[in-house]
Amino acid sequence: MDAIGRRRSIRKFKDTDVSDELITKIISAGAAAPSAKNRQPWKYIVFKGAAREEVLSVMDRGLDMALAEPSLPEQGKAGVADAKNTLRIMRGAPVIILVLNTNGVSPFAKPLDIFGRITEICDSMSCGASIENTLLAATEEGLGTLWIANTFYAHEPLRAYLKTDKQLIAAIAVGYPDEDPVARPRKDLSEIIEFRN
Ligand SMILES: Cc1cc2nc3c(=O)[nH]c(=O)nc-3n(C[C@H](O)[C@H](O)[C@H](O)COP(=O)(O)O)c2cc1C
Repeated sequence: MDAIGRRRSIRKFKDTDVSDELITKIISAGAAAPSAKNRQPWKYIVFKGAAREEVLSVMDRGLDMALAEPSLPEQGKAGVADAKNTLRIMRGAPVIILVLNTNGVSPFAKPLDIFGRITEICDSMSCGASIENTLLAATEEGLGTLWIANTFYAHEPLRAYLKTDKQLIAAIAVGYPDEDPVARPRKDLSEIIEFRN
């Protein structure tokens, strides 16, 4: 409860390296998460140094390509603009982790049948559980994190760069926090819990 209470999305990081050992430790918490049929459909690719610069450049170019797409609707334009802001935040983090759903397909693939959708929902939830475990372990270690889904706006270029056909379900920016934001508001518990006796 302490780590849950202290965790915040961190968008300003110190320029201090995070050791590979510490990154491995927090991901080991992610590996301990429950998953549908124990499929453990996650893979964490950790980017530091020059590799981190490179993958963020790929994301940048991918966002520009998305913006240049004539069929992009207004909502998409706003999404890409938001993703550019997230990219700016990512550039300030010493560690970027890309999380693959190793059982997932591209969001641009042809629609799934009903069993495929159920499986994908379960695998998405499993990845979410794993990511949250990682975030909480990071908080416990004094690290700041940002859970990022705006990578979806550059999904195909990032996937090509990673040379994978798996789904890139999220990114996590990690570093020592350089801000201490107040907790964002939460819905009242009476709104989200319903007891039925
Ligand atoms: C699935 C998911 C995707 C998110 N994607 C982004 C993102 O792309 N960019 C960003 O700045 N924050 C992102 N966030 C962070 C949320 O904005 C944040 O968790 C929320 O506002 C609550 O704030 P808190 O994490 O400090 O409690 C994401 C969070 C989740 C769970």
